[in-house]
Amino acid sequence: MINLAIFASGNGSNAKKLIECIRDLDSLKLCILITDNEHAGVINHCKEYNINYKVCPKNNISKEEHENLIIEELKAYKIDYILLAGYMRILSSKFIIHFSREGEKHSRIVNIHPSLLPHHKGLNAYEKAYADKSSFSGITLHYVDPGMDSGEIIMQAKLDKKDQEPLEDFITRGLTLEHQIYPYFIEVLNSNAKDISPLEEI
Ligand code: GAR
Repeated sequence: MINLAIFASGNGSNAKKLIECIRDLDSLKLCILITDNEHAGVINHCKEYNINYKVCPKNNISKEEHENLIIEELKAYKIDYILLAGYMRILSSKFIIHFSREGEKHSRIVNIHPSLLPHHKGLNAYEKAYADKSSFSGITLHYVDPGMDSGEIIMQAKLDKKDQEPLEDFITRGLTLEHQIYPYFIEVLNSNAKDISPLEEI
């Protein structure tokens, strides 16, 4: 069994898709959802689907203290993979090391980003992609490293731009694509579960 944690900071539309997808799969277990935002919409999805969640507020503590809080929360679950779904904080290398396995090329942390990386890293990627001169953008799923949206790419999907399309519609189409890509990765993870070694205890 592969033990999963989801991290999310906002509405949680990706988290909701992941929850729906994971519950149908035999070899994956969603143990906990962590949010750094007590007002995040994702909390409603956790309640609706009866998902164990923990709010770890980041206010008034250092990044290191915040990450240590999260690590303490995760310890009980022997987490094998972390899925970032709109989690809006860059993770430190110290944190990432906890979720990496010696001999493996990349961390056990995956992120979805709403652009065709390496274009438009960071915040407001849809807005930046919408405003640039290119006729298309895209979505990227990647492993997380200590840089900003710089880890090894797992898969990408193209998002064409349409003439005169309002930004909101462009974002809606992009999110629909996100909701297809992340579950696809999850299904691959489920299929490969028996070949994935557990992470050593943190
Ligand atoms: C999504 O578009 C996700 O790709 C993006 O935040 C949004 C969260 O939406 N993530 C990033 O920009 C990370 N750099 P959601 O809360 O509805 O899933």
